[in-house]
Formats: sequence, structure tokens, C-alpha cells
Amino acid sequence: MRLHQAVRFAVLALFLAVPAAVAQDAAAGKAVYDLWCAECHGAEGLGDGSAANAMLPRPRNFSEARYQVRTTGSGELPTDADLVNVIQNGLPGTTMPGWPNLSDSETGDVIAYIKSFSRFFGQGDAPQAMDFGRDPGGGPAALEAGAAAYLALECEACHGSTGRGDGTSAPTLEDWRGLPIRAADLTEAWALNGGSSVEDIHTRVLTGLDGTPMPAAIDAMNGGVVTPDEVWQLAHYVASLGARETPPLLEVVRVGRADGALPADGSDAEWEDVEAFHFPLGGQVIEIPRNFAPTVDGVWVQGMHDGSDIVLRLQWNDPSRSPDPLWDEWQVKLMGALDMDGADSIALDSLGAPTLRPADAFTVQFPFEIPEDNERPYFLAGSARNPVYLWRWNSQDGVSAARGRGMESFEDLVDDPVVGDASWADGRWTLYVRRSIQSEDALSFTDGVAIPVAFSAWDGSSAEMGKRASISSWYYVLLEQPPSSTVVVTPLIAMLLTGAFGLVLVRRAQDRGRA
Ligand code: HEC
Ligand code: HEC
Repeated sequence: MRLHQAVRFAVLALFLAVPAAVAQDAAAGKAVYDLWCAECHGAEGLGDGSAANAMLPRPRNFSEARYQVRTTGSGELPTDADLVNVIQNGLPGTTMPGWPNLSDSETGDVIAYIKSFSRFFGQGDAPQAMDFGRDPGGGPAALEAGAAAYLALECEACHGSTGRGDGTSAPTLEDWRGLPIRAADLTEAWALNGGSSVEDIHTRVLTGLDGTPMPAAIDAMNGGVVTPDEVWQLAHYVASLGARETPPLLEVVRVGRADGALPADGSDAEWEDVEAFHFPLGGQVIEIPRNFAPTVDGVWVQGMHDGSDIVLRLQWNDPSRSPDPLWDEWQVKLMGALDMDGADSIALDSLGAPTLRPADAFTVQFPFEIPEDNERPYFLAGSARNPVYLWRWNSQDGVSAARGRGMESFEDLVDDPVVGDASWADGRWTLYVRRSIQSEDALSFTDGVAIPVAFSAWDGSSAEMGKRASISSWYYVLLEQPPSSTVVVTPLIAMLLTGAFGLVLVRRAQDRGRA
């Protein structure tokens, strides 16, 4: 049966070829690379694209062949499957986007091309994925063992007791080039570079992130400090510290009507029962100076009203309670690492400490009046013709109201009745704001009507001030009416559509900003 054998052989050959079947043509990969990757990673793969100096972490220099999201041992080259994974999914929490639209052959080709930038590939055997052992499973006992391993391995020193990246060593961390690097916020697993599943986290913890201060737990495991099962349990524990999936974007903060008294401050137990809405924030990259390395990447918003007053609680993660001299070293390194020229550079004193330690800040932005025709002010703090109404808070002066006519043009509204206060604990700010629903001089809230709202945040210790902010696009607040009346649906849906459109515009503008 020679034919039969030949067919079997051919099938076998095909089968064997499959792992390498991602066709790899470096010459074809150059075209893909020049089009999509060179802008950040540089024409020669040196990580020196046009906006690279404004980014932290920097785009990777492929000539160094240093890879973080690997299934191979610490310090080893990645497998092709690792590279496919990174290119398809991107590195969440960094500027590296995912490229799910590249075809398999384009992905294979660009992999061949980026490997060609380094002499390390192609020497010796192909990199092999490690054996990660068997997950003993989760559950309460596993989480307890994982929490113990978190202490034993001193994860807390960098990631903090609740995982928000606020450990005592956090202000001193730097990558292999001496550039400042943030300890990941483990409570936002959706933004981890290498994925949020227990397996992903286990792999990162075991093999470490080459080029960062994040140690590989495999050394402690081989040294007998923890068992293989305990490393898995640690991964379960880390995965339990917060949400693993990106919170759904609901576009509208529903501000329920309270039966009794409104929560009196940010720590009122009543908030536990109030729905929280998550809004992503991104670096402001439309106007100069741009912010490609924002600290704050989102805010949780809750609200209530009682027909006469409205209260909001806003919570966002920020590992430093600025201004804080413990973060001086961080601030100085960050200012040196990013293109901080012109007005917002901060001088250093003779000891090399910053002469100005900016405060943390946050604003809640509304149109000055409810717009009649859906026309919202320019989302970057309004314009001369169409101003915004702002609740401004910073960690030194507290809460006040202002009229905004652009990101650096504010007029205090001294008679505005807004009040509030904020507290910081374990890498998270909680801001409470209260105002009467009616106002003589600025926006009056009307229940049943979706009112545009947007948010901005500044991390002082990262020298964020003025336009160097984290911002959101426009969303909506909706004060719910007493149960009997009907909610106006059609205008809301109309506004939602324009809201979604606004987001697309921001994304486009940001993409352009990156380019
Ligand atoms: C907008 C900027 C940007 C663009 C465009 C970009 N990257 Fe990246 N890339 C980065 C940054 C930043 C990092 C490093 C992130 C880090 O160190 O955590 C990175 C890292 C990588 C890594 C290293 C992954 C690892 O495990 O360490 C690979 C591979 C990579 N990029 C491939 C590509 C390819 C292929 C393209 C084009 C299809 C591309 N990148 C386009 C910014 C970019
Ligand atoms: C010396 C400081 C330091 C210690 C100790 C440390 N980490 Fe990290 N860790 C970091 C830094 C910095 C990053 C972010 C690296 C980056 O941005 O690429 C990180 C990232 C991570 C990530 C995210 C990986 C990803 O996919 O982005 C996880 C999970 C993690 N660490 C868990 C742990 C655990 C568990 C421990 C204890 C075993 C630990 N770390 C100990 C500094 C540390």
C-alpha cells in the first residue's frame, strides 16, 4: 500500500509542521512592521519610535530580545506562541495595543521580522514552554494559603497590603534601564500585561517579568520557601484581589432617590448598597503637553439624591497620597524619563528634590446648563463660547466649584454651594461631594433627564498638572424620579448614541495622538 503510506507520511509531515506552520517570512513581515509597529518600536526595532520618549513603560527594544509575557523560564526567549499571544492581545495597562486584525500569516511574518532585530534568536534549540505543574484548585483554604505566600514572598513590599501597587518600595522601583516603573495594581487584573486568568498570573509570578524588579517566584520555590502548590494558591489569591474582567461600561450613572437621609460622607455604610459605575480614564493626548503614562485609569462612581440634594462618591486608585516627599525620587525620575518641557517642568532644589510637589486632584465636569439640543461643551474643560461647570477637588484645598473655558482657564464660583471631602487609604482615594439640586448661578439638576458628565484625575507625585491629566469622554448622570412618574427614554437613547460616537472620536484622536 505505497499510496496509503505516502498519504500517511504527507499527513504526518503536515502535522509535524503545524507548530511552525505560522508561515514566517521576515521580508513580508517588514511591511507589516513598518506600517503598524515602527511608530513606537522604531524603524530598526530599537524601541525609539517618534513618541517613545513620552511613554512609560517604553516600547520594547527588540535588539535586546527581552520578553515579559513568556511561558519559558526566567531570562529565556519566548516561544512563537507567546509572541502570537502578545501581538494578538497587546499588553493591557501599557500603550502596546492588541492586533487581532492581523491575519495569521501577517502575525507570523512580523514575528520573524522582529526576531531578525536580535542575534539571540536562531541560536541553539527553539525556546520551550515550561511545565507549570497542576493547579491544586481554589477555594477558601487555597486563598488563605495564597495570602500567607503573599506575605512570605514579600509581594506586599511593592504591591501593598491590598494589592494596589502602594507598597513601601513602590516609589523606588525602576526597570533595567533605570526608568521608573509602577508595581502593577493587582486589584485591576483586567489591566495586567499578561492576562488575568489564574494560569496567566501563575505563569507571570513563577517566571517573573524580565527587565522589571518583579522577581521570579521559581527561585523561592526551588529554594524551598514555598511549595509548587503554594505558588498556585498565591495565583488564586492574587486573582481574588479584584475584578478580573474589565467592568462593563454602562455610560450612565444612575443616581437613585433615597428613601431616608443621604449618606453623610464617603465612609457611610449606606454606600455599600448603592450601585457603582466604572468609567475608564486615559491619558490626555490631544493637547500638548500630552500624557502617555497616566497613573489613574478609571473611576468608580456612585450617586444618590433626595429631591433637594445630590451626593456622589468617587473612588479611584492612586498608589501615592500626594504631595508626599517619599515620592520625590519617583517624581524626579519620572520627570527625567518623560518629555517634560516648557511650562510644566518642575525645578529641583540643590539636593535634587522637586521644588514643587503637586497635589492629587480630581474634577467632575458638567455642562454649565442642561444643553437643549444635545450639544455638549468641548470635553477638555469646555471653551470660551461653551463653558463647563466643574466640581474641582485637590488634596490640599478640598472641594470648590468653577467655570471652565478650556483646560487651563478656570474662574472660581465662590458662592456655589458644593461641599465635600476626601480620604486616602491603601492606594485609593474616596471623594464625597454634595450639592443642592437647584442652583442660581450654575447647572440645576433635573430628575429624569440625562445630564452629561465627565471626569479627570491628576496624580501629583507623577508630576501630573494642568493638561497632563487622565481624562474621560462625556457620559451621563440620570437622577431617578420618584417611582410613580415615567422616565423620559427617547432623549436618553439619543444622547447615548451621541455619547458612543463621542467615544469613537476620542479614540481616533488618541490614536492620532499616539501616531
Ligand atoms: C503605541 C505604541 C506601540 C505600538 C504601535 C506597538 N507596540 Fe509593541 N510595545 C509597546 C510597548 C510600550 C511595549 C512594552 C510594554 C512593557 O514593557 O510592559 C511593547 C512591547 C512589545 C512586545 C514585547 C512583549 C513581551 O512579552 O515583552 C512585542 C513582541 C511587541 N510589542 C510587538 C509589537 C508589534 C508586532 C507591533 C505591531 C504590530 C507593536 N508591538 C506595536 C508599544 C507599542
Ligand atoms: C520588587 C518589587 C516587586 C515585588 C517584590 C513583587 N512584584 Fe509583582 N510586579 C512588580 C512590578 C514593577 C510589576 C510591573 C511590571 C511591568 O509593568 O511590566 C509587577 C507586576 C506583577 C504582576 C502583573 C503581571 C502582568 O501580567 O502584568 C503580578 C500578577 C505580580 N506582579 C504579582 C506579584 C506577586 C504575587 C509577588 C510576590 C511573589 C510580587 N508580584 C512581588 C514589582 C514587584
